[in-house]
Amino acid sequence: MKVGVFDSGLGGLTVVRSILDLLKGVEIFYIADTKHAPYGEKSKDEILSYSLDITDYFIRVHHIDALVIACNTATSAAIETIRKQYPNLIVVGTEPGIKPAIEKTRSGKVGVLATPATLSGEKYQQLVDKHAKEKSVMLYEQACPGLVSQIEQGKVEHPTTEKMLETWLHPMRQAQVDTIVLGCTHYPLVSHVIEKIMSCDLSLIHTGDAIAKRLLLLAEQRGHQNSGELGLALYTTGQIDERIVETILGEPVPFTHINSFSAVHKH
Ligand code: DGL
Repeated sequence: MKVGVFDSGLGGLTVVRSILDLLKGVEIFYIADTKHAPYGEKSKDEILSYSLDITDYFIRVHHIDALVIACNTATSAAIETIRKQYPNLIVVGTEPGIKPAIEKTRSGKVGVLATPATLSGEKYQQLVDKHAKEKSVMLYEQACPGLVSQIEQGKVEHPTTEKMLETWLHPMRQAQVDTIVLGCTHYPLVSHVIEKIMSCDLSLIHTGDAIAKRLLLLAEQRGHQNSGELGLALYTTGQIDERIVETILGEPVPFTHINSFSAVHKH
């Protein structure tokens, strides 16, 4: 089975890590669209256009059977259109883990960190309406503009990044939030900084493993036998920091540069 996975950058590799741990006999193609990162500070139309170009490229060039949108922001902006345009493609998206967080919290206070585009999107509101409304849980939502760029530049234990997180987490610490949803696939890379700032018994919710499980289930329904070798090819449209790749995947894996998806016909 051939699986295309994409994100605006390296954050989606946290989802690839979970896929590699669960699936076998799959060839994974990953695109880090760093030329257009951060997606979370772009308009819905721009994010939709990048997502459609990448999906089209995966189908045309790599003949993928499944697409994993390893990005909350792109899922919010594009998954419905992609599903409509490619009805035979398995499509798995990424959503902030509101449901598991509500199940986990003991204090009834849950923090949500995500990009501005994810938090202002309709899909996020639907998710909250579906899961958080009937339970008496307080959500502390915080958009984190600039955080993806800091992470992409490898500035994780950096005074600016720590200062940003301290400011955003302050109200959550005051409110004694005990569970925080990492609503962006880049944010697991700053988990330890968040834990240090919160300095309490904290659960961080990241949905990589749930995405891998969902992919396996849908693949098996189409006859995928979960055995055999794994393949991984990484592509980027811009700059990447190779040290982050090694941190996430545990070994250095080279990236191939793609200049453009120019053969892509526009939608
Ligand atoms: N990893 C993307 C997400 O999950 C980051 C989006 C961005 O580039 O801002 O939302």
